[in-house]
Amino acid sequence: MKIIKAKDYNDMSRKAANIISAQVIMKPNAVLGLATGTTPIGAYAQLVKWYNKGDIDFSEVTTINLDEYKGLDGTHPQSYRYFMNEHLFNHINIDINNTHVPNGKDEDSDHACEEYNRIINKAGGIDLQLLGIGLDGHIGFNEPGTAFELGTHCVKLTESTIQANSRLFDSIDEVPKEAYTMGVKTIMQARKVLMIASGANKAEILKESFFGPVTPQVPASILQMHPDVILIADKEALSLIE
Ligand code: GLP
Repeated sequence: MKIIKAKDYNDMSRKAANIISAQVIMKPNAVLGLATGTTPIGAYAQLVKWYNKGDIDFSEVTTINLDEYKGLDGTHPQSYRYFMNEHLFNHINIDINNTHVPNGKDEDSDHACEEYNRIINKAGGIDLQLLGIGLDGHIGFNEPGTAFELGTHCVKLTESTIQANSRLFDSIDEVPKEAYTMGVKTIMQARKVLMIASGANKAEILKESFFGPVTPQVPASILQMHPDVILIADKEALSLIE
């Protein structure tokens, strides 16, 4: 694993955007695994800037997002489809048909998950998977205790995640209780993984994930077993790792 120390959030974002753009330059038809949350917003903004300067071409890129709230339509402002359109897809020359987010409106969990696994397989797997990390160590929406061998599946969100994500909703009651997420197995099959983290509240979980025991109780800890992981984090997030 490679740890890259960033000065601050902006520096982390630029460094991450550099790695994503290098991937697209080296393989114009790359399959990018993308993430939501507040952490990747700066990296997406940087990619949009470079796209506007003519430095990156997304016309052949395919994207596969990690997760989506079950029950939310892509037009809901808190859906991850909406987030991706707003922060990235609407501002670059990607073919929207090549952007994939689990279908939150499909009430049939088995169908929604099978469909997503089929999309991932058809794309030939993921070249570069971008990840944030939840305060409890979740990646995508793989919460503590999730079996490592799962593909896309439906999860019940933990109280801690509902609480943390409620800041983006009008009230905590509006936060969906379930989500569809790419499984740990699929994340581990990505050829390269890029995790980004920022802020002191991520320091403890980063230490646990990368230097503690590998256990489903800390889903991100499995990344210790991945052959090509880069962690880019700012000073605060790395404060417990030296
Ligand atoms: C959400 C997402 C995760 C994300 C995490 C951290 O629950 N499903 O993919 O990594 O939150 O979010 P943030 O970047 O806002 O801290």
